[in-house]
Amino acid sequence: MPQEAVSAEGILSYIDKNGPFNSEDYANSIQEDHQKVVGIIKSLQGLGQVVNVEQVTRKHWELTDEGRDVARTGSHEAKVFNAVPPEGIAQSELMSSVPNAKIGFSKAVSCGWVRVDKGPAGARVCRRVQSVTDVVRLHLAALQDSADADVSEKLKAEYKKRKLLQEVVSKSYTVSKGADFTLNIEKPETDLTPEMIASGSWRSKTFKPYNFSALGVPPARGHLHPLLKVRAEFRQIFLEMGFSEMPTNRYVESSFWNFDALFQPQQHPARDAHDTFFISDPANSVSLPADYLPKVKRVHSQGGFGSQGYGYDWKLEEAQKNLLRTHTTAVSARMLRQLAQEKEFRPVKYFSIDRVFRNETLDATHLAEFHQVEGLVADRGLTLGHLMGVINEFFKKLGIEQIRFKPAYNPYTEPSMEIFSWHAGLGKWVEIGNSGVFRPEMLLPMGLPEDVNVIAWGLSLERPTMIKYKLDNIRDLCGHRVDLQMVASNPICRLDK
Ligand code: PHE
Repeated sequence: MPQEAVSAEGILSYIDKNGPFNSEDYANSIQEDHQKVVGIIKSLQGLGQVVNVEQVTRKHWELTDEGRDVARTGSHEAKVFNAVPPEGIAQSELMSSVPNAKIGFSKAVSCGWVRVDKGPAGARVCRRVQSVTDVVRLHLAALQDSADADVSEKLKAEYKKRKLLQEVVSKSYTVSKGADFTLNIEKPETDLTPEMIASGSWRSKTFKPYNFSALGVPPARGHLHPLLKVRAEFRQIFLEMGFSEMPTNRYVESSFWNFDALFQPQQHPARDAHDTFFISDPANSVSLPADYLPKVKRVHSQGGFGSQGYGYDWKLEEAQKNLLRTHTTAVSARMLRQLAQEKEFRPVKYFSIDRVFRNETLDATHLAEFHQVEGLVADRGLTLGHLMGVINEFFKKLGIEQIRFKPAYNPYTEPSMEIFSWHAGLGKWVEIGNSGVFRPEMLLPMGLPEDVNVIAWGLSLERPTMIKYKLDNIRDLCGHRVDLQMVASNPICRLDK
């Protein structure tokens, strides 16, 4: 067969003359790279029904490097035989003079070509036959010439075991005429241009069909971090329940609003630098509310409003210390004080979702900052039952139906309850939040009417986010180790699904 340059036209006229063919055989016959032929077949396939293409897998035998060496220079056993002179040779000398002597020697012995004589001067190897035929070499040389060479499957398997032969699987294609077979192919147009319309040439052109399942180029865009997606869901739930959002832009807060207003005594361990980040510049807040502050001081040191207080020497300097707020309940305190200053009391439902800071030992589930979700309801005559009802409703909207409460302690709530939910995956109750009814020692100094109660609860935003996005290390969610691809490819969040 004369060598032709491979081309689409060449392939089409080849089928026209010779009928269906196999791509690998065709490539061999024109001494062309198979992959090049495959490329052209694929482009013909893209034209529609010009050709039919079917994939076939074929196995064939191929010599290994060692096998090729044997085909060229002889088998290991023949090399050993040839190294034995008619008068014999010391075994030790033989073994060191022939490559692969060990294999060659044992094969030569089992073929009956040589034998070992043990004498007083050591073992000598002698020929048992005058000459040998190196069948292994002949077989391999034949297989190298043609994969169809007459060698039994049993022998092939043995040569495979000797790592002289290997079985190679190749993928090729059977190509035959298609329904729209033609010898003249025209590259189909991908676009209808104004020129084609003006000249009328579109009439005679073929157009590439639309590929409606093409994915298209993803547009470059920004991505929302998982925390922001979950935050949007929480915000939506609060808004549906009629809550309005509190302003949470005050990361730096005074100890007064973060602790004192919440009836948290000045000796409380949470007010230690080990737990709270204090600000060094400006170290103190100078704008504490002059009319409200003495009332807070009194309830801590002397009591009042039916409470005996803590009975210690309350210090302004302690209340003035600036810090990074440790909870968003500081925001709730400011908002409730503001509410108390209105002429007439009105019920409110407030929420916030923002950052808080704690001087924590960092580990897989704790960072020095996290987000708190907080909700509160202020109205006349609210009870613990209302709190449990609101919490049940809130978590039901998150898709959490099984809730349990456990008595707890907060300086600013009485009673206080930790919230647990049944985690089907872990098979146990896990803590998901904290809640309570704000103490009169907190609300009455603010000036709220005596029959007004405030129920409140808080939880972290990180925990549900980590569960939702199946992250088990908080450092994969926040901080310098965050994988931006995780942010780009994480799905939108629907908490109720
Ligand atoms: N402030 C509490 C915390 O940091 C949460 C909480 C909010 C508890 C409101 C009771 C009421 O864990």
